[in-house]
Amino acid sequence: MAEAVRIYEVGPRDGLQNEPGVISVDRKVALIDFLARSGLCDIEVGSFVSPKWVPQMADTEAVLAGMAPAPGVSFGVLVPNMRGWEGFVAARQPDVRYEVAVFISASEGFSQSNLNCSVAESVARLTPVVAAAQEAGVPVRGYVSCVTDCPFDGPIAPDQVARAAARLRNVAPMQISLGDTIGKGTPARVAAMLEAVAAEIPVAELAGHFHDTGGQALANIAVALDHGLRIFDSAVGGLGGCPYAPGAPGNVATEAVLDLMARRGFETGVDRDVIAQAAEMARGMR
Ligand code: HMG
Ligand code: MG
Repeated sequence: MAEAVRIYEVGPRDGLQNEPGVISVDRKVALIDFLARSGLCDIEVGSFVSPKWVPQMADTEAVLAGMAPAPGVSFGVLVPNMRGWEGFVAARQPDVRYEVAVFISASEGFSQSNLNCSVAESVARLTPVVAAAQEAGVPVRGYVSCVTDCPFDGPIAPDQVARAAARLRNVAPMQISLGDTIGKGTPARVAAMLEAVAAEIPVAELAGHFHDTGGQALANIAVALDHGLRIFDSAVGGLGGCPYAPGAPGNVATEAVLDLMARRGFETGVDRDVIAQAAEMARGMR
């Protein structure tokens, strides 16, 4: 039997967060409901963050209210602090499975620009969120951004990424998604980074989150597969862009990752035809 790879769809959050226009709640909900019929088990749908910082996600409460429950699918939301947790608790719907995602950066420059605080402060802010989620029985995922490069601090040493991932794991064991936020990673540098992180964290707990800004995302995913990673984040239709590289592609496209997995003999359980139709919808949102 073919080995399984899990695709974590981030288009409705990471993709739409980086598109210049604000997409209506109805169109977001239509895309999410469609994706939920593709066989995907994880779909990230929004963020409980400041609307001043990320206006594209200001309607997450309405998106959660509009979505149809989908058995077997877990819906992810980003939550940076207790204010965000309270927003999530007020917005969540009965009979829907959610996952809360907390996020830090491996670099101080991106932490300041993204969260307005140091890495240590961001860990302090997310620690009670993780505790509250555990108390409420909601699974938690963690992100580490800038795992190869930071738009402010430049190249990031593999050890620095390993230390950041270990900081998250010290809060609680959780799935940790390693983000090449600005898509500058190359296979050799991704390999070095993964080797450093794998010395701290079991590979089964790691996910790869590659932006395709430099056109290297699929090559980087291939290297991550060789290092034993079996969870990959992607955005249908390659939604999103990069605020630090105008015009550049966004997250690696879900359909391209599915094709790579098929070529490499991995099973994803995701229907390629449904994703192709969802990609059409997504491209219409640009
Ligand atoms: P801050 O300004 O330092 O926060 O922002 P504050 O605590 O001083 O509060 C300032 C104002 O924000 C207050 O409102 C708070 O109530 C409000 P005011 O009194 O001015 O009206 N506020 C909030 N509002 C809504 N939801 C909240 C919340 N918290 C405070 N949760 C904060 C700190 C974290 C809020 C801010 O920096 C923020 O929202 N940042 C957004 C970060 C973000 O969403 N970035 C994109 C996602 S990360 C990513 O894309 C990377 C990833 O894809 C992986 C990769 O590619 O690397 C995951
Ligand atoms: Mg991202």
